[in-house]
Amino acid sequence: MSSDALTSHLTESRRFEPSAEFRERARVSSREQYEALYRESLDDPSAFWARETRDLVWRTEATAVMTGKPPRADWFHGASLNVSESCVDRHLTSGARHRAAIIWEGEPEAGGRPVETRTLTYGELHREVVALAGALRALGVEKGDRVILYMGMVPEAAIAMLACARVGAVHGVVFGGFAVEALRDRINDCGAKVVITQDGAFRRGNVVPMKATVDRALEEAKSVEKVIVFPRLGPAHAPISLHPGRDLLWSDALALDPKAGAAPEIVDASHPLFILYTSGSTGKPKGVLHTAAGFLAGAHVSTRYVFDLRDGDLFWCTADVGWVTGHSYVVYGPLSNGATVMMYEGAPNAPDPGRFWRIIERHGVSVLYTAPTAIRAFMRWGEQHPRACDLSSLRLLGSVGEPINPEAWVWYHTVIGGGRCPIVDTWWQTETGSIMMVTLPGATFAKPGSTGLPFFGVVPEVWRADGTPAAPNEGGKLVLTRPYPSMLRTIWGDDARYQQAYFSEFSDTYFTGDGARRDEDGYFWVLGRIDDVLNIAGHRVGTAEIESAVVGHPAVAECAAVGRPDELKGQALVVFVTLKLGQEAGPAMREAILEQVSRDIGKFARPDEVRFADALPKTRSGKIMRRFLKDIAAGRAATGDASTLEDLSVLAKLQAAEE
Ligand code: WT7
Repeated sequence: MSSDALTSHLTESRRFEPSAEFRERARVSSREQYEALYRESLDDPSAFWARETRDLVWRTEATAVMTGKPPRADWFHGASLNVSESCVDRHLTSGARHRAAIIWEGEPEAGGRPVETRTLTYGELHREVVALAGALRALGVEKGDRVILYMGMVPEAAIAMLACARVGAVHGVVFGGFAVEALRDRINDCGAKVVITQDGAFRRGNVVPMKATVDRALEEAKSVEKVIVFPRLGPAHAPISLHPGRDLLWSDALALDPKAGAAPEIVDASHPLFILYTSGSTGKPKGVLHTAAGFLAGAHVSTRYVFDLRDGDLFWCTADVGWVTGHSYVVYGPLSNGATVMMYEGAPNAPDPGRFWRIIERHGVSVLYTAPTAIRAFMRWGEQHPRACDLSSLRLLGSVGEPINPEAWVWYHTVIGGGRCPIVDTWWQTETGSIMMVTLPGATFAKPGSTGLPFFGVVPEVWRADGTPAAPNEGGKLVLTRPYPSMLRTIWGDDARYQQAYFSEFSDTYFTGDGARRDEDGYFWVLGRIDDVLNIAGHRVGTAEIESAVVGHPAVAECAAVGRPDELKGQALVVFVTLKLGQEAGPAMREAILEQVSRDIGKFARPDEVRFADALPKTRSGKIMRRFLKDIAAGRAATGDASTLEDLSVLAKLQAAEE
């Protein structure tokens, strides 16, 4: 955690009140109303959660809303449900059958118009989910089986998630930017029986092959019996090669047994809904496990309050379904609320930087939820792009993924929001499943760069290393002291790691891995990760994972990955590399190392910089001292206690190389 982040935040004292007009129509329209609901959520969680989730479809009611305590807290004990009923079926009888559930645009555009758009009503979504659920059953997928989804931003990704939920299977979405090895490891970790993918996706004017990546991953993933392939690219592209006996086209799968998916599998509240892999401080990704009722409750209630949804809204969360944001706020949260979701396949600058704004204008998006890294890119591309479009349909903006710098916040507010849209800066994590901190949009003022106040039921605190509470404005470790419905329940296949990663810093209290401070108004300011995990363009990247990819190169002896501040990405990834004797550092080696990371993990994790060194600074026990490397990567003098350093000259050399 760098101290300059602390001071720059401290100088931010602007406050932005919601307009009277927004406030008047908001679900929560004053700080008092927020406080009252917040109090209730803590004093009487059973009453709060029972009431707030009453509109979901429960087959049997919970006998106890909250039982046990972390790490073994349980929610909605005794209840049974099927998540797809709450997200789809319930809207068929509530008058929303013909309402659009998903409005989709493919990436290719011609003459300023999308080549393909699709709208799926709730009725149509239901039909598709039931048909795919039937296919999964016909292929032998049973309750509790794992299904890996390796897909891009197409409606079929949401359909596949919901179809898994319908048959009680556990989905694991792997972001389409992950490469063969990363995909293979995730398939093997959860022992998936089926993979659902597509032939390829359009991204930034290119075709990203996906089925071919699956084929290669499956060479070393033997649990997979069947692969369902959605043909996204169309007839102008290479024909899809299907492995006989293993692979089926989407349409053939759907024809297997169209009726078999009609009856949803009713599961216990704590039945697993999905696994989602995220980076931790060791090289192995963590399979964060979320449960049916708890996750749905968190996604459902937060969507309703944070985005203040109402009839007629078009909600666009720009996150990919491969990340948790896509799970909670593209699929489960909005659909369980019967909202209409905007879904876009491609890049924000395809074919030009005006794309997002054209989408908003074309469809009348009213709520936009995106990431600071995207906002900074928009700033750099210039405000002529948003200015060229009519953005007056927008009424609320959101931000997630990393701290938003006040400059970007104000730009977002002024240029995109026209000064009239509140901004909700939402803090949460893959593990928390849903938004934990936010300033509710109509309730009170926002402070640019602050993630605001706790959401209902959440008790965040800032603790010193010894577990005592930090004073106002004193930086410390961010913990969540209460159980919460949408919290992860374990790490798939590694419960010891679950306890170690989240409940060992402070016993029985969930440690987030973030540093934070709380100001005199009770607003939280997140200062970033304090473990060996970076946040690059809004996504967690484990340094250990990068390092293990780099040392996988035969010429590399040792490697340390660190972050340095970056204007656009928040953090940039720098790898320090020592080569084996006789290997030559230079542009070719650099390229080979970058390639290695792209190949093993994915292009999105490609380091921004490779620095060759003769040696890395280490303690006497051989631990690499990253804090020195962070200083050097950031162009600062390496400061702080160097007394445990084994060889001081190593540091001097690294610094000399810098100058
Ligand atoms: C980490 C979680 C939650 C979806 C996206 C990322 C950082 C997230 C904020 C925010 C400051 C934020 C934290 C957190 N983070 N949102 N509004 N302000 N920091 O999910 O990959 O699980 O990463 O992202 O460091 O711990 P994730």
